[in-house]
Amino acid sequence: MEYFEIMGNTRLGGEIDVHGAKNSVLPLLAGCVLVKGECVLHNCPRLSDVDFTIKILRHLGAEVKREGSTICVNTATLNRYDIPEALMREMRSSIIFLGALSGRLKKAKLFLPGGCEIGLRPIDLHIKALGELGYGICFDGRDIKSEFISKKSDNIALAFPSVGATENLILSSVLLEGNTRIINAAREPEIVDLCDFLVSAGAKISGAGNTVIEIEGARELHSVEHTVIPDRILASTLMSASAITSGEIRLNKVRLSHLLPVFPVFEEAGCRLYADKASLTIKPPKRLRRVRLIETRPYPGFPTDSQATACAMLSVAGGTSLIHETIFENRQKHVRELNRFGADIAVHDNYAVINGVKSLHGASASCTDLRGGAAVVLAALKAEGKSSIYSINHIDRGYECFENQLSILGADVKRINNEKESEKQTKPENQRF
Ligand code: UD1
Repeated sequence: MEYFEIMGNTRLGGEIDVHGAKNSVLPLLAGCVLVKGECVLHNCPRLSDVDFTIKILRHLGAEVKREGSTICVNTATLNRYDIPEALMREMRSSIIFLGALSGRLKKAKLFLPGGCEIGLRPIDLHIKALGELGYGICFDGRDIKSEFISKKSDNIALAFPSVGATENLILSSVLLEGNTRIINAAREPEIVDLCDFLVSAGAKISGAGNTVIEIEGARELHSVEHTVIPDRILASTLMSASAITSGEIRLNKVRLSHLLPVFPVFEEAGCRLYADKASLTIKPPKRLRRVRLIETRPYPGFPTDSQATACAMLSVAGGTSLIHETIFENRQKHVRELNRFGADIAVHDNYAVINGVKSLHGASASCTDLRGGAAVVLAALKAEGKSSIYSINHIDRGYECFENQLSILGADVKRINNEKESEKQTKPENQRF
């Protein structure tokens, strides 16, 4: 078991490349199942969720090779349509194999996925959508079985623009005869990236990035080479790290248009942003200003994945800020951990009320989930003195060697591997809810 030891109160500085997007690479790897030839994916980050996805692909019979940030997947040898429960439970995005296997083999057998505990995270929209498309779906709350019967409807409307349900619908319909229209589709850049990959492989998809996606069934998909888009959530995490430590940094290899939804929050907090082609420089003020209200929304709204790190940053802003989490029911667990550093944050009905304090002190704290974990690390970067951050396995799911990235920017973060130390319980001091 490992933990981070962080000596805080250092100002970040310098520049760094932003790695490929976790939320893109996982559906892209699942999407390889649809392609009979070889898929070469560049800019794949080294994440534990990527490792789990590769395990699933190999279990299904695919050949997977990895060299640096390039992953080659060949599913010509695919010989299974089932995924065991242990592999499904490792991460939420394993549910995307429902669409991928159904699309390629016309049947799938898997289980309810695991993942970050940030809310109920039902899969009713996925099940209903595939059922409307023409798949016979059996779901008893644990086992999921899917088998294509015959095309039922050409127009599938989602009650909510779920990212995962949109991805499953795309994957399960690109090889179906006839046309399919997804109405109220998710518009996230990761959806566009998945569609770009599939179109390069011969799929006929239009409208990705809009609320209506049109798909004309293709007979088969061919070999493809694709570069994963930059991780906009990593970029916003590093922007918050810059802001909380009052240190100017430059982020390279970003897609500026994907970051537009977070710019207003940083500007309201007093940060100056300088964009230059694929780079972004963030120049924070000495003391951040409060942000009146952040409300998380589906893209192009403020991302739910960026609210925890924004919360950490605003814990030291002048005045009271408000964050309203509207996507997930239980995504404020990091607040209790942030308060261990001396932050003054309370949660009421999915609103985080953040009373900015002047400084934070070192503490022992735990990562509650992936993005909440990043928020806790940010608090430790700002805190005076030493902090120990536990349960960092959550962070490894979505940030490639986070400690190295922060060290490049001048932070003092060490990964400690100490069996006994990491079992130390964090004290429930300073709890606000
Ligand atoms: C994806 C992202 C995750 C991000 C989220 C929202 C990946 C691997 N994960 O997750 O990082 O936080 O989008 O941008 O890309 N819902 C239902 N029924 C369903 C499906 C979803 O009620 O069948 C609800 C969820 O409980 C949640 C909301 O819809 O409240 C959004 O979920 P969704 O967009 O599906 O998120 P994920 O695809 O799980």
